[in-house]
Amino acid sequence: MSLRSTLVASIIAVALITLLFGGAISYWHALSKVDEEMEAAIDVGARISINAVDDAEESSDPSRRLHLLVADFNGNRHLRARWLDTAGRVISESTPAASPGTVPSWFEAVIRQPERTVKVDLPPIFSGLGSFVLETDSHNEIAEVWHDTWNTLQILGLLCVLVLGCVYWLVGRALRPLDKLAASFADVSKSKTAPKIPETGPAELVQVYRGFNVMAENLAKMEDKNRRLNDQLTTVQEEERADLARDLHDEIGPFLFSVDVDASTIGRFVENEKYDEIMPRLATMREAIGHMQRHVKELLGRLRSKGLVDVGLIDAIDNLTSFWRIRYPSVEFDVDVVNCSYGEVVDQTVFRIVQESLSNAMRHGKPSRVEITVSREEGGIAILVRDNGSGFQKQESASGFGIAGMRERVAAFDGSLNVTAREDGDGVEVSAWLPVGEPMSETTEQLTGGPTRTIVHEEA
Ligand SMILES: Nc1ncnc2c1ncn2[C@@H]1O[C@H](COP(=O)(O)OP(=O)(O)O)[C@@H](O)[C@H]1O
Ligand SMILES: [Mg+2]
Repeated sequence: MSLRSTLVASIIAVALITLLFGGAISYWHALSKVDEEMEAAIDVGARISINAVDDAEESSDPSRRLHLLVADFNGNRHLRARWLDTAGRVISESTPAASPGTVPSWFEAVIRQPERTVKVDLPPIFSGLGSFVLETDSHNEIAEVWHDTWNTLQILGLLCVLVLGCVYWLVGRALRPLDKLAASFADVSKSKTAPKIPETGPAELVQVYRGFNVMAENLAKMEDKNRRLNDQLTTVQEEERADLARDLHDEIGPFLFSVDVDASTIGRFVENEKYDEIMPRLATMREAIGHMQRHVKELLGRLRSKGLVDVGLIDAIDNLTSFWRIRYPSVEFDVDVVNCSYGEVVDQTVFRIVQESLSNAMRHGKPSRVEITVSREEGGIAILVRDNGSGFQKQESASGFGIAGMRERVAAFDGSLNVTAREDGDGVEVSAWLPVGEPMSETTEQLTGGPTRTIVHEEA
């Protein structure tokens, strides 16, 4: 049922209930009013009659006095006077006032009560002339009550019709903009964007429009953010591929070449029967193969760091530092990572922040020492990556995709991120706070090492 019909039905129901109660109250009121009026009229009538014939002892024509007394009541609104002979027959009767209008018979039937009669005691001079009787006539009073009631009913009816009309029109007008809102919602659900709804109209709807506009704006921002994160992800993936290709080319290529050279040299030695020259060549070949094995293992470790679920945060960060330690053997890494998991999504975020901060430190700062701390704090997890490198080159800290990406990751958890120049010397300090509550589980794999594990890679 629509809001409009509900409102109209409610108003009709309230009007009917009011009519019912009002009708009952009016009925009791009308009954007692007619009754009181009739009682008062007959009392007054009796008194007036007695006073009128009080001096009749001196009257020479008592029957004429009686005729006149009856005639006095002609046109009375509530009483009818009758002069009856001793046998009870009517000698003379007054004519009450005519009814002011027609009254529905049902109304009269409901209100009418038995008429009252009173026999007026006349002075002794009238004895033998019969009796003088007053009787109430409630027609007039009932007609008056009916007209009052009818007027009230008409006013009430008009009021109801006006109120209903107003409500019907106003509700229709007020709800019309909701169609616009419904269309905008449909737009949002289809394309995740919708044009702004003008914030005009009734105050309640303006609030709804404002809420809708804010929601649509946030949705558009999130869409934009998702698109940028996707772009960034693609960039990171491409960078990683290029990095891997470079590594394979630079690190494996020369050794493969040297193994190839050694193998053909050994072939020549065999042809020329220089057998004692073969062993040193074999040793260098094995050395090159060992180098390649180590390098392939390290590349695999780097690739595995994507699936944190497999290795856990501590090992993933360990793999990361191993990767950089091999490239920069002179750099000292001080790693202190909490031994618990906050679930895959949080762990992944922590890892990505450490990865980007470490990569920035190594690529831009050229430090001799990097400290990585991931600690469990009251209500969340804190990450700190400090290097003692050259620090920001420009005065203002430039912000590329890496730092922006970290900010977005942190913002997704309502956390905070600060990338600042170190106060206690050169270098950069990245500190992040993720209010993620309590950890989901302890990482059992490293429990033997105590709650945290420190991995310090000394200069090789
Ligand atoms: N640890 C750091 N030491 C020195 N400079 C840094 C460090 N971290 C970030 N920067 C500077 O901030 C810039 C922005 O970093 P980032 O957003 O990660 O972009 P990108 O690494 O792709 O250049 C870097 O280009 C660099 O100039
Ligand atoms: Mg970077």
